[in-house]
Amino acid sequence: MRTVLHCHPAFPVGPVRPRLFGSFVEHFGRCVYGGIYEPGHPKADEEGLRGDVLDLVRELGVTVVRYPGGNFVSGYRWEDGVGPVRDRPVRLDGSWRSVETNRFGLGEFAGWAAKAGVETMLAVNLGTRGVQEALDLLEYANHPGGTRLSDQRVADGTGDPLGIRMWCLGNEMDGPWQTGHKTATEYGRLAAETARAMRMLDPGLELVACGSSGSGMPTFGEWEHTVLELAYDLVDHVSAHAYYEATPEDPGSFLASAVDMDRMIEAVVATADAVGAKLKSRKRIMVSFDEWNVWYQSRLGDCLPKDWTVAPRISEDAYTVSDAVVVGNLLISLLRHADRVAAACQAQLVNAIAPIRAEPGGPAWRQTIFHPFAQAARHARGTVLQTRLSGPTYETARYGEVPVVDATAVHDADAGLLTVFAVSRHRTEPVPLRLDLAALPGYDLVEHSVLADPDPLAVNSRAEPERVTPGDATGAARRTETALDVTLPPTSWNVLRLR
Ligand code: AHR
Repeated sequence: MRTVLHCHPAFPVGPVRPRLFGSFVEHFGRCVYGGIYEPGHPKADEEGLRGDVLDLVRELGVTVVRYPGGNFVSGYRWEDGVGPVRDRPVRLDGSWRSVETNRFGLGEFAGWAAKAGVETMLAVNLGTRGVQEALDLLEYANHPGGTRLSDQRVADGTGDPLGIRMWCLGNEMDGPWQTGHKTATEYGRLAAETARAMRMLDPGLELVACGSSGSGMPTFGEWEHTVLELAYDLVDHVSAHAYYEATPEDPGSFLASAVDMDRMIEAVVATADAVGAKLKSRKRIMVSFDEWNVWYQSRLGDCLPKDWTVAPRISEDAYTVSDAVVVGNLLISLLRHADRVAAACQAQLVNAIAPIRAEPGGPAWRQTIFHPFAQAARHARGTVLQTRLSGPTYETARYGEVPVVDATAVHDADAGLLTVFAVSRHRTEPVPLRLDLAALPGYDLVEHSVLADPDPLAVNSRAEPERVTPGDATGAARRTETALDVTLPPTSWNVLRLR
């Protein structure tokens, strides 16, 4: 039985927001040290920034990068990372049991972001710190000059104001693992007061309140409700975080992980709108899905360092074809909610839970999950269309009955392009997909790109960096008068471009 995808250009979800293709750089494992920054590497520039990694970041199509954490930020003193490097203190980072040299800080990150051509999303520490330190950081980063902290920025060589618009008010403050973890009421009050004070310095900022660190948190829903009741008028976005992991006994649920993301976004939006209704507000809070990915967290215990070292190898997961299909499906979910998801950051960018791997003194390469992100960032231009999918389903232990094929469609009316992103969650058989083109009669297939492999556990590695790359299936498609018929291989990510 085939899946049929219906869409109509008159029924949009909303424009594709560039910030949907965000990423995340945390002082975590070898994301910074030995990832984006490795002085002495043959491809590093005069600032110690790896040129090969920068090239891959640009190819990935990342638009905005959240920095510097993550759990790390909740014990971080931003002042440690500015000023002359020789004066910067070496500290313990309890969140990742690592030694932080502070050789890399805000100025270095701003320089890297400029070279990568990405916007910076900055997180402030609301774990061990509060309103004053957030104000100091804002003044240091964004004020033009003539004040102690802005002049210090100039003296430090960072120069022009950084113009950072989007600020996260802490990180995962609902999580008991978080340094300075708080109740929803404690955090909601602190977030509101921090936001109020930051807006006094710059009313144009976009502020993100911490939502839940996962849909499985016991406080999920209640947390967002309480925090937003306290901070609704003062923030623009509420964050959402989600990580998924395959288990050998239940691959079917893993492949359907995007069902959880769909439900999480819809639940957060419903909760935010309920608070808005209660407050009689016409303002709509948006979701900043600022951490998402496949992450083998169950292996984290094995790789967390026993000794205190600088930039230990943590969570350098080697991603499979299956993982890439799930990542593609999560991108479909984010696009499908383009009306309410203002930003999204894949966590993270290099080495730790990342689409890019880099070895010390050695090469950098694309993991399997690099490809769906890069293709979506490149081809999702224009307006996301509402879609109706009818077709076969299968039963999962975690999410009940789910569709075998999931897809979304993006229409660029000006360029005359229609792009369909589709995954097949079928693990053994190819499945047919029909695009109903009755409402888009002039369109025909330009390219059908497929990421799939006879071995769904195949990975890219230093030895075989190109083992898994997208292939071409354009020739196999069939255009009829009102439809396009294609076949999706088992466990596959597909990009169908029509003109
Ligand atoms: O991205 C890794 C970690 O996951 C982040 O530091 C934290 O916010 C989340 O729990």
